[in-house]
Amino acid sequence: MDISKILNILLEFGKTILYEKDIDNLLQSISYLTRDLVNADRCSIFLYNTEKNTLYTKIAHGIDNIELPADKGVVGYTAQTGEPQIVVDVNSDIRFYAEVDKITGYKTKNLVTIPLLDSENKVFGVLEAVNKKEGFFDNFDAELLMLSASYISYILENALLNNKLKENNLKIIYKLSTAAEFKDEDTSLHTKRVAYYSEIIVSGLEVESEFKELIKIAAPMHDVGKIGIPDKILLKEGKLTKEEFDIIKTHPTIGYNILKDKENKLLTIAANISLDHHEKWNGKGYPNNKKGLEISLEGRIVAISDVFDALISKRPYKEPWSFEKAIKYIEQEKGSHFDPDMVNIFIDKVDLVKDIYLKYREE
Ligand code: C2E
Ligand code: SIN
Ligand code: SIN
Ligand code: FE
Repeated sequence: MDISKILNILLEFGKTILYEKDIDNLLQSISYLTRDLVNADRCSIFLYNTEKNTLYTKIAHGIDNIELPADKGVVGYTAQTGEPQIVVDVNSDIRFYAEVDKITGYKTKNLVTIPLLDSENKVFGVLEAVNKKEGFFDNFDAELLMLSASYISYILENALLNNKLKENNLKIIYKLSTAAEFKDEDTSLHTKRVAYYSEIIVSGLEVESEFKELIKIAAPMHDVGKIGIPDKILLKEGKLTKEEFDIIKTHPTIGYNILKDKENKLLTIAANISLDHHEKWNGKGYPNNKKGLEISLEGRIVAISDVFDALISKRPYKEPWSFEKAIKYIEQEKGSHFDPDMVNIFIDKVDLVKDIYLKYREE
């Protein structure tokens, strides 16, 4: 095959990847191009089914889908070892798994198998080209197939990531809609401002940018546990009795139980915030009397944002404080209620705090 034909096919690859958005169509097109690239009769993409411990075809040209035990055939060999294989004559290769041909009625003569590797170089499938139109597959074919395999791996890994992202978003929406029964309407701007104040504090810290992003998204969920608190307590106009306040004190744990999710970083942070946002630096908070650095960083940050915002807001039980009075309170509580380092950042950046205060003011 001449180089210009190969270049043309590779160009098609690029275009296909750019314009085709549907994953199955994309893989279908790529595998046709791959077949043409090496002048094969067929081309298949095998993926692991980890539950059944098999390899199955995601794409199989012209024949029914194939499934074989994960340790069988040349395909299985490549899946297990991660080594590409060129088989010139399947009849003289004991690894060849003839069962597949029996089922499909297809006559396999020669083949090449290439591992599909994820970004951590773990094999998650196999690309296979079958029956060279003229002559035999050689090393050059194998190299072209490796190129193609890297495209296929990239496409599949991104698709999986995307699905994971969507799944996460759905989880969040589901969990938040559980919280949407939240009765206290005054608090919608409150949750927004708490997010921005937390963002201001975290911007003064040397932490991963992912954490900075996530805490901002998670902070508004700090009070979802109030779902479990009766209206007549939450909306009470006067001072709470001790019994009523004991019930209020369960909201961090209720929220934690709603939000906690081991596999999801965002929800883990949100759950920690819920659990820790009423803990105090001096150990006199609730629900667990955590002290100092026992309190999660996210909890220590949101403690300040939440109280500051509660102070400047109207509540059924209190009138709003002035901006200056609320700032003074935060400073006074440095080292007793709040982490002194977080207070220092908050006070350093008081101009930014004021901007948010003015921009998201209650009418
Ligand atoms: P919240 O209204 O969002 O208040 C959050 C936190 O801001 C409070 O946590 C407290 O640390 C601080 N805070 C709010 N208002 C004031 C204030 O006037 N003075 C001072 N020094 N701090 C204030 P806390 O106390 O653990 O309360 C948790 C939640 O319990 C409150 O959330 C609110 O929903 C409810 N709550 C607290 N006290 C009362 C009350 O007297 N009446 C009613 N109806 N609810 C209350
Ligand atoms: C294909 O195999 O690529 C399509 C059907 C055929 O030509 O076998
Ligand atoms: C094999 O890998 O040994 C057989 C796979 C196939 O026929 O496609
Ligand atoms: Fe709270």
